[in-house]
Amino acid sequence: KSISNREEKERVAKVISSMVNDGDIIGAGSGSTAYLALTKIAERVKNEQLHIRAIPTSQEIRMTCARLGIPVTSLWEHKPDWTFDGADEIDTEHNMIKGRGGAMFKEKLLISSSPRTYIIADPSKMVTKLGTRFPVPIEIFPEALTYVEEVLRAYNPKEIKLRMAEGKDGPVITENGNLILDAWFDNIPDNLERSIKSITGVIESGLFMHYNVQIIS
Ligand code: A5P
Repeated sequence: KSISNREEKERVAKVISSMVNDGDIIGAGSGSTAYLALTKIAERVKNEQLHIRAIPTSQEIRMTCARLGIPVTSLWEHKPDWTFDGADEIDTEHNMIKGRGGAMFKEKLLISSSPRTYIIADPSKMVTKLGTRFPVPIEIFPEALTYVEEVLRAYNPKEIKLRMAEGKDGPVITENGNLILDAWFDNIPDNLERSIKSITGVIESGLFMHYNVQIIS
């Protein structure tokens, strides 16, 4: 990724850290932009001695919280006051594809549980049409693989690929012990998210249609 991209991410990460209030319970998204936001938040927590807690959306962000000294909590104990997260693609109506990092299930859970969500995105994330650069990631129960693929074909995907791991043989196994199918579509109609979710064996997809999110870019 280019340096200017990194600078853009730093800029939006600072905007997020400025939104933190003492006592906040914050849903912490995953990915490199969310990571930067968390480091900026940690600086404020330290300098201003703020008492906040984060609800992480992935192990990676949970570890980052530990390293940065940000206490974590869970959805069992707390409802988030707000959530921040990144995205892979955002269209003009603020529909999104997320899940390049495979954390879309927990991300969607946090975004759905939060009264406010800020999506931090450098300009490279903005697209006129969803699905141009990224596939729709779909987390599935492992033994449902054949069945889900078969049903998905009815929605005319250009391609469906089982996401394979790097640095290990075999497929990516999510934090929930599931597989990820990456499905490429020429067209993503409004009801595709619901249609995919209705297939038995699908845990969640990375398609976010008409969520109440504010884009910080
Ligand atoms: C993680 O599963 C994704 O949904 C991320 O939010 C997305 O991939 C954005 O990542 P970057 O901030 O690294 O671009």
